[in-house]
This record gives sequence, structure tokens and C-alpha cells, in this order.
Amino acid sequence: METEVINEMQIKSETLKTIYERRAVRKYKDLPADKKVIEKILDAGRMAPSALNEQSWKFYIVTNKKTIHLFSKAITKIAAKEFIKAGPKKIIKSIINLFRFSHGLHFPKITDHVFYEAPAVIFITAPKDNEWAALDIGMCAQNMMLAAKSMGLDSCPVGFGKYIKYTELYPQLHIPSSEEIHLSIIFGYGDETPEAHKRVTKNATFID
Ligand SMILES: Cc1cc2nc3c(=O)[nH]c(=O)nc-3n(C[C@H](O)[C@H](O)[C@H](O)COP(=O)(O)O)c2cc1C
Repeated sequence: METEVINEMQIKSETLKTIYERRAVRKYKDLPADKKVIEKILDAGRMAPSALNEQSWKFYIVTNKKTIHLFSKAITKIAAKEFIKAGPKKIIKSIINLFRFSHGLHFPKITDHVFYEAPAVIFITAPKDNEWAALDIGMCAQNMMLAAKSMGLDSCPVGFGKYIKYTELYPQLHIPSSEEIHLSIIFGYGDETPEAHKRVTKNATFID
């Protein structure tokens, strides 16, 4: 059997470099994200594979600082209510998780704990009746974050973003009732360079 030989060129690939350098960034410079750049990010998302080529994603883009701030506040309020309802055990677990996933962040100094004062938030939705949508959106989201990184922008997927649905501000997004939010992603020019979390590598089984 022929073995594929990976040469130095491939190892030094720009794509791999971007994959390794992308981090969830939670601190942004006060710089707007240009519409042209956002369009490029969206185009990269649109190039993702999708089950049955459904291209099930729809994008709702918010770049108004005030709106983003109000969205964050409304989501924080909902999250706080749920948090209190969950009881002490869950609260302690959530706090431990928070510090684990966002190491290096000084939480008491952060004023926006949802969208981290990023200049752009993109909500990605898909039709509620698409059984593959979660996978489509995951692939689309990763394309977008890598495209952003390759153009000098940072990002962070924000799962919490979907709780906007439970706030009085949801109608502002004009999302039809046939769609649901799978993920929101923030984009902007990062003002921190977090270290990569250690990756688990003992999770592959090669079968003869
Ligand atoms: C589906 C999903 C939801 C996430 N939701 C949040 C979130 O609500 N808030 C946040 O700060 N980070 C969120 N993250 C970012 C993860 O915490 C981060 O990707 C992880 O800690 C690994 O770090 P890295 O992206 O820098 O490699 C989310 C990531 C994914 C994939």
C-alpha cells in the first residue's frame, strides 16, 4: 500500500497555521468591523459543506454597539434568573467551568459577560425542521471564524446568545418563527492573546 508523504510545505500550510492560532477571544479593541470584511466572513460560512447541500444557515448581523450592549444585558438578566433557579451545586459547577474555559480573563473587570463588547455579533439560524442543521451550522461557524482569523480578526462562539429568544428584544432580530438560533459568534479586533487550552490527544483509535 502506498503511504502518503506529507512534505514540509504542507506542514507549514497557512490553513493549519490559522487553525492553530484561532482562539476564543473575549476582549476587543474599540474598532468597528468593516462591512466588507463581514461580507467576506459570511461568504466563507456559505462555502461550508451542508447535508444534502441544504445550506440551511441564515445570518442575522448586529453591528450597532448600543444594540449589542442591550442584547447582552437582556441575556445576562435571563441567565441570572436561571442560575439562581438551578441551586447552589449547579452554581458552583458553572463558576468552576467559567474559569476553566476562559482562563486568564479578569471577570470582575468585564462589564459585558455575553458578547464581551465585540463590535459585531452574527446570529446563525436554521429551519427548525432540518435534522442536520446543528452539524451544518457548526461547519459554517468554523469556516467563518477561520476566515476572520486569516484576515486579522478574532472571534468567539457564544452559545449563550441563543437565549436572546427569551428576552423582549428578540423581535428586533426579525427571525421568522420557522427558524431557530443555533449559535451566535462575536467578531472584532482582539485585545488579548489567550493561550491555547491543552488538547486531549488520547481520543483516537486507529483500526487495522
Ligand atoms: C458551541 C459553543 C458554544 C460556546 N459558548 C460560549 C459562550 O457562551 N461564552 C464564551 O465565552 N465562550 C463560549 N464558547 C467558547 C469555548 O469556551 C472555547 O471555544 C473553548 O474554551 C476552547 O477555547 P479556544 O476556542 O480558544 O480553543 C463556546 C464554544 C462553542 C463551540
